[in-house]
Amino acid sequence: MASLGAPAAVSVFRGRDDLDEAAAEQIADLAGTAIERSGRFTWVLSGGSTPRPVYARLASEQMAGRVEWSRVHFFWVDERCVPPEDAESNYRAARETLLDGVNPPAANVHRIRGEDQPEQAAAAYEQLLHEFFQVGRDAPPPRFDLVLLGMGADGHTASLFPGTPHLLETRRWVVANPAGDTIRSRVTMTPVIINAAANVTFIVAGSSKAARLSEVLRGEPRGTPWPVQLIKPVDGQLRWMVDADAAAKLEGAR
Ligand code: 6PG
Repeated sequence: MASLGAPAAVSVFRGRDDLDEAAAEQIADLAGTAIERSGRFTWVLSGGSTPRPVYARLASEQMAGRVEWSRVHFFWVDERCVPPEDAESNYRAARETLLDGVNPPAANVHRIRGEDQPEQAAAAYEQLLHEFFQVGRDAPPPRFDLVLLGMGADGHTASLFPGTPHLLETRRWVVANPAGDTIRSRVTMTPVIINAAANVTFIVAGSSKAARLSEVLRGEPRGTPWPVQLIKPVDGQLRWMVDADAAAKLEGAR
């Protein structure tokens, strides 16, 4: 593993396996620390394909015992507007790879209702967060222990796509993102709540992400920032965990 240092904490891993192992270890460590400190671990899961092997590793026989799963609360950073059993559902992906294996209490699984009308699902999820964290309407956003994120080759994260409304949202924690040419409607957390987290970790793999990753991390001036560049935890730790293919265009990664 090579560390590229400031401005963001970037760790580069030789291959997918090393990346998955390190990411799973990091999640287990953060869970242990949070549970020891506060009795629970509030974890926001990313959708997409990249985290699936990480989830599976956490649920594996070797690792599942590392985490007190009954004390983990699962949230989702975004959801596609489909029912929970749909092949595109982020909830379904996490259920199949992680939840079915570690079997947390049902009350700890806080999914976004992708089967509902998008605006309604977004408002309901924001309400759920207010109730879970017991904070009022005008309160500052709550602090999740960990938000896990991925990055698309177009620089999107969560369901915050370039050029879509809400990138500059300053108030709402969860919004509906209408369908575009290539994506169906989604519900997504906004940078307002993501940036309040104690830890935000991006997991990025594959050569298709290499060019955008290097642009994003160089932070080169550009008219409009890439959505991933809007993720800047206010008082939390930002980490990028990437494999060598995704890091191929980063200076100092070879
Ligand atoms: C989703 C995500 C999204 C994802 C990226 C990367 O619901 O798809 O939350 O932001 O993380 O698109 O996706 P891959 O991991 O599949 O490359």
